[in-house]
Amino acid sequence: MSDRSQKNRLSTTAVHGGEERVKAGHSLTTPIVQTSTYTFRDSAEVDDFISGRVQRIDYGRYGNPTQRAAELKLVELEGAEDGLLFASGMNAVTTTLLAMLSHGQHAIILDDCYRKTRQFGEKVLKRYGIDVTFVPPGDYEAIEGAFRPNTRVLVTESPTNPHLNVLDLPRLVAMAKPNLVKVIIDSTFATPYNQRPLEFGVDLVIHSATKYLGGHNDLMAGAVLGPAGLISAIKDFRGIMGGTIDPHCAYLLIRGVKTFALRMARQNATAQRMAEFLEGHPKVRRVYYPGLKSHPHHDVAREQMSGFGGVVSFDVAGGLAQTLKFVDHLRVPYIGPSLGGVESMVSHPATVSYYELSREERLEVGILDELIRYAVGVEDPEDLIEDLGKALEKV
Ligand SMILES: Cc1ncc(COP(=O)(O)O)c(C=O)c1O
Repeated sequence: MSDRSQKNRLSTTAVHGGEERVKAGHSLTTPIVQTSTYTFRDSAEVDDFISGRVQRIDYGRYGNPTQRAAELKLVELEGAEDGLLFASGMNAVTTTLLAMLSHGQHAIILDDCYRKTRQFGEKVLKRYGIDVTFVPPGDYEAIEGAFRPNTRVLVTESPTNPHLNVLDLPRLVAMAKPNLVKVIIDSTFATPYNQRPLEFGVDLVIHSATKYLGGHNDLMAGAVLGPAGLISAIKDFRGIMGGTIDPHCAYLLIRGVKTFALRMARQNATAQRMAEFLEGHPKVRRVYYPGLKSHPHHDVAREQMSGFGGVVSFDVAGGLAQTLKFVDHLRVPYIGPSLGGVESMVSHPATVSYYELSREERLEVGILDELIRYAVGVEDPEDLIEDLGKALEKV
């Protein structure tokens, strides 16, 4: 293990955190332990394990040394006591919520959350007798009013996907604590480079590590990070639900995180420039980016974030046809539903992510025909902005 008593700065932690200094076979990189099962020398060794005298792994669904190194790297980056990895971000969300909630209890989910997290509340939790109240992200009175004696968790992203609302984390914590409610923040869009929610008293942080942490659009993973007691309970649940990350994927994640700080610095800077360019453009009606002074949560974002992330959302001035024409004239970004990787990705949420909803239902959650979510990669910012300018001229 790296010396965890010595706190390094974030980019050093991204490279060295969580990994053994001396590894099997004197390898520099953490080996991929590609096995489903771990064996015992004799029955005495089994007994040592069962009785808890020896900490080790017996079966791949409960853990893996490559996965553990990746988990500890994220633990250090987030400043958590412990953490777990899952097969996807959604698996982290669903396993965590199922571990923390029981029949007859109640959850508050802010309604600008990732569509599948909302659907999990609407379609799954409710079906299993767990009531859910959805509340608009900026409406603190509505949040306060939603607490009930049986409320156990308050779940939100910050910034949210795709409108980049930023929640006042200390305020949420102050509302939740007297009600004995745990605050869970999906910090995928911020990453520990820009925001560390646990420092504000948040109970658990979730990431879709598929995005910035992996960083190369080549893996699926999720993480939950927080105090050891809570994480241990969720770990037991993960062992039942079975969403453990594969060792090869854990290796890819370790490799991706090594360049995490470099990528985030570039993506923050490019997104800020892009947001400023778009804000001044006559073919753009509105820009959603917390780094802009015009953003309604800019002051909160400045208080609790050290950068504003690599996603810029905006409404093109024109209708659906003009917006799709704009997308089709972009030459650098790929069209697709993800974000956070080295390749820029553009998505038209109304068609790519919200196609299951009627237009009226979409508009109700603020997904306009003209809304674009642009996730910047690590390409040269000049190329991205030039490309945007040319595509907007076609609108
Ligand atoms: C904020 C947020 N949370 C969770 C998820 C789900 O992550 P995954 O796709 O890794 O399951 C996503 C996916 O886009 C997301 O944007």
